[in-house]
Amino acid sequence: LIFKSTRSTHGRSKTERDAILADPGFGKYFSDHMVSIDWTVEKGWHDAQVKPYGPLLLDPASSVLHYAQEIFEGLKAYRHADGSIWTFRPQANAERMQRSAHRLALPGLPTDAFIESLKQLVSMDADWVPSAPDTCMYLRPFTIANESFLGVRSAHKATYFVIASPVGPYFSKGVAPVSIWLSEDFTRAAVGGTGAAKCGGNYAASLLPQQEAYKNGCSQVLFLDPQEGKYLEELGGMNVFLVKKDGTLITPELSGSILEGVTRLSILQLARDRGLKVEERKISIDEWRNGVASGDIVEAFAAGTAAVVAPISALKGRDFVAGDENAPAGKLTMSLRQELTDIQYGRAPDRHGWLKRL
Ligand code: COI
Repeated sequence: LIFKSTRSTHGRSKTERDAILADPGFGKYFSDHMVSIDWTVEKGWHDAQVKPYGPLLLDPASSVLHYAQEIFEGLKAYRHADGSIWTFRPQANAERMQRSAHRLALPGLPTDAFIESLKQLVSMDADWVPSAPDTCMYLRPFTIANESFLGVRSAHKATYFVIASPVGPYFSKGVAPVSIWLSEDFTRAAVGGTGAAKCGGNYAASLLPQQEAYKNGCSQVLFLDPQEGKYLEELGGMNVFLVKKDGTLITPELSGSILEGVTRLSILQLARDRGLKVEERKISIDEWRNGVASGDIVEAFAAGTAAVVAPISALKGRDFVAGDENAPAGKLTMSLRQELTDIQYGRAPDRHGWLKRL
């Protein structure tokens, strides 16, 4: 694929950009350009472009608007001390997007084109990659079905996009510990459903329980397995880890309805490298609740690209609280977070070859 570039004539001034980069929040502002690559059954992937960021013109009959045939990814571009810009394990995101595409009957973009699309956008909008501590550029690739047709079948037309958002911490309180709300009425994904795919529909289904979490003073919602309602799956938008008193790190095994987080995989690797005992297995909600009460579970954290590693202070449900909302972040949690971000920001050796220069 050869990318055609069209530079924006209405990009923000340096003053406007600097004001945004000084306090970016999360996912509120977008850089001046975006990528699009069209796909049709007849032509495959074609017409790759980097062009000015702006609204899409969509036919009201576009399939994505009716049957939610959509997938997305999330990864970050980090500015290192020498000014160079790097991303983290983009092959993993490219391959996951191909698996998501398969499940949603969308075309999968080849890995080389995926990585090239990030390069193209980041080199055009390099000035938008912030350099303050704990800031970076969040890249959001996504594919939508956009055939104008109301029959229920996979669309014959789709477009892949990448947009970029300069970001600070995902949670407004930064790395301060968050409380988690147990969703007792709703699950996130069905057995045999789309839970392992990164599709917008999974996140749409998480929003009502997420609202319930906010109402109860929690930042994320925890879902249990759809079959027995007994085992931890994941949070609204991130994976979950627990730390046992003996130092064992545990996280739910991939059940087919859990998202295979790249941060999840990376944390598991870093923990194994340290010689920690690591378990990917079924974890029941009682194991967590009782473990907190007995002192057997000493830390908990959320892991995802957007939030990196976020300490969890308490788990709350309709009639219980496990843990202390005012408890400080766990030691292992924070040291894993530090180690991962040191690699991402180029402050520590990249011994696994996870970084890719953009
Ligand atoms: C991520 O990028 O970490 C996500 O899963 C998406 C969302 C929580 C922003």
